[in-house]
Amino acid sequence: MKENRSIDAYNKENRVYKYDDNMNKMHPNRTKMIEIAIEFLPFNQQQSLNAIDIGIGTGYFSLEFFKKFPQTHIIGVDGAEAMIEIAKLRLDDYVKNIEFKICDFINLQEINQEKDSIDVVFSSYALHHLNSIEKENLYKILKSILKKNGWILYADVIIADNYEIEERFQEIRIKNILERTRGNDNRFLDDISTRNYLDDLEKNENDQPQSLSKDIELIKNAGFSNVEILWKEYREMIICAQNK
Ligand SMILES: C[S@@+](CC[C@H](N)C(=O)[O-])C[C@H]1O[C@@H](n2cnc3c(N)ncnc32)[C@H](O)[C@@H]1O
Repeated sequence: MKENRSIDAYNKENRVYKYDDNMNKMHPNRTKMIEIAIEFLPFNQQQSLNAIDIGIGTGYFSLEFFKKFPQTHIIGVDGAEAMIEIAKLRLDDYVKNIEFKICDFINLQEINQEKDSIDVVFSSYALHHLNSIEKENLYKILKSILKKNGWILYADVIIADNYEIEERFQEIRIKNILERTRGNDNRFLDDISTRNYLDDLEKNENDQPQSLSKDIELIKNAGFSNVEILWKEYREMIICAQNK
């Protein structure tokens, strides 16, 4: 079996039970990003939509999606069973509307989703675990299962094109983590130890973020239209794209 360190890193009980708390400390923009992504969708709230959450993790994006579009059927895809177990608890009120698939993104065709059957694909903080070839291949599969005019909403971390700008973004990121945790988290006590912790974490999780321009290029290469940036702040962004 192919080693996939990203999935392995998330398939651990001690990692998953702290996951959402860690997200609040390290990526509090998740709330804003998902709010914007959902607000953007031009669907009627009572419409019966078919959606896929790529990298559902603990189910945060899917729960927010259900709150706005309660008649949706969501397929939650993730390689880490331990994350899915938390998502099941979080999405308990929507148990009839959600189906989980444990699957590596690079084998997404194995879920045998019918062509032209999905209204919207969404994903947050998950696709930076793929390299650019894997990501473009995944986009092609997603495009084939989306209905005509269907949407993809992609929220993730990115890197700056320019090294000096990336380093400035990292300084700001670390300052904000230190302000949020105020000495109450031993991983985040000063600039250097925080940076070392984050670098090790990202290496261990096999993070491979692309620049925003590269992400846009990949999604366009896969044949998507109407690619727009809905929101961006330093190292985080959401883009939308449509299957025209
Ligand atoms: C940082 S979490 C994001 C979870 C959630 N979407 C959120 O916004 O909190 C990344 C998720 O992607 C999953 N993942 C990473 N690489 C994967 C791959 N190649 N195939 C399937 N799942 C993968 C991990 O198991 C994890 O649940």
